[in-house]
Amino acid sequence: MATTNPALEQLGGYPLAGLQDLANELRADGGPVADFSIGDPDEPTPPFIRDALIDAVGPVSRYPTAAGQRALREAVASWVRTRHGVEVDPDVHVLPSAGSKEAIFHLPLAVLDPHGDRRAVVWGDPGYPVYGRGALFAGGVSDPVPLTHEGAWRLELGDLGADRLAAACLAWVNYPHNPTGAVVDVDYYRRQVATAREQGLLLASDECYQEVWFDEPAPSVLEVCEGNFTDVLAFVSLSKRSGMTGYRAGAIVGDPELIRRLRLLRPNVGTASPDFVQVAATAAWRDQTHVDARRAVFAAKRDVVLGFLRDAGIEVSGSDATFYVWFRAPGGDDTGYAEALLKERIIASPGTAFGPAGAGWMRLALVPTVQGCREAVERWAEAIDAGRLPS
Ligand SMILES: Cc1ncc(COP(=O)(O)O)c(C=O)c1O
Repeated sequence: MATTNPALEQLGGYPLAGLQDLANELRADGGPVADFSIGDPDEPTPPFIRDALIDAVGPVSRYPTAAGQRALREAVASWVRTRHGVEVDPDVHVLPSAGSKEAIFHLPLAVLDPHGDRRAVVWGDPGYPVYGRGALFAGGVSDPVPLTHEGAWRLELGDLGADRLAAACLAWVNYPHNPTGAVVDVDYYRRQVATAREQGLLLASDECYQEVWFDEPAPSVLEVCEGNFTDVLAFVSLSKRSGMTGYRAGAIVGDPELIRRLRLLRPNVGTASPDFVQVAATAAWRDQTHVDARRAVFAAKRDVVLGFLRDAGIEVSGSDATFYVWFRAPGGDDTGYAEALLKERIIASPGTAFGPAGAGWMRLALVPTVQGCREAVERWAEAIDAGRLPS
């Protein structure tokens, strides 16, 4: 029997697996099921992006390079300039990735010394589990920090003790935040950059939901750097912005020295997007119109869901951006409430699926159509009126 990597054993089961099994049983009878559980909306990829990909598939297909096509790096740099008012050099500050997930997972391999004394990776709980998993597989330590409703679901590095920061090589922040939809302002980023630099750790900002905002555009950590990106990286993605989850296209932007190291690391990993995907990604980064149209669709769904929760007296927290709505589970038991909702043919994620600090909260991903959202909240309201669900 071959040996195993202990990091695999530490992962545990997939937290939503039991719920998904029940959901599949429900689907089998053919009745309506409103699935708000998976963060992968149904809206199609805009046709001009699909066409760009198809036109770029040639008779010969070569290995893509880790540095990526220059046109793609230029398109990212130009988007950073127009969207955030920040000048970056496409050859020095920008590296394409195959979506942000793999880039997040692989980052510790470039910065974490498994034999050193700064092996911890700090991230917020509830949160995206890949931050901690990347740390474990790189031989480091996952150090989740509980976030709270009272603290607006913000990870404040300055509030962590000196010992905890001294044990870390990397801290992840993620705003707009999955799963809570919480947002931050530029002052928040100023504080985190200052603390990270004081403590000599890398601040990595996962900004994959940055374009799914409603009231005002979500800022980037890059905006507070004033041209000095030392110890700062932003991770951006086309998945949510352009409806391209299946294409696997994103980018890493920031500290030139870290970009250089990632350029050394990443050819070993071999996860660059194929050239035809890079051509489609270039077209997507260059267009903003489709992004505004997608945002309007999510805003319409969000209005339906937030309106219902308000009328039902259910407490909403965060939910300022992203396509997630985060609310307190009536009765306080998130798993119990998720099970009760399933009986009404509505699938929602219990907060504990995103970490222990999510207990008592629930996440709705705005995946069904606007009409699907309306039908689901009608069923939900009926169940509350009939006393089958607490409110
Ligand atoms: C917080 C967060 N970061 C990163 C990702 C990965 O996105 P992608 O790899 O599609 O860019 C997701 C996906 O759902 C996410 O929720």
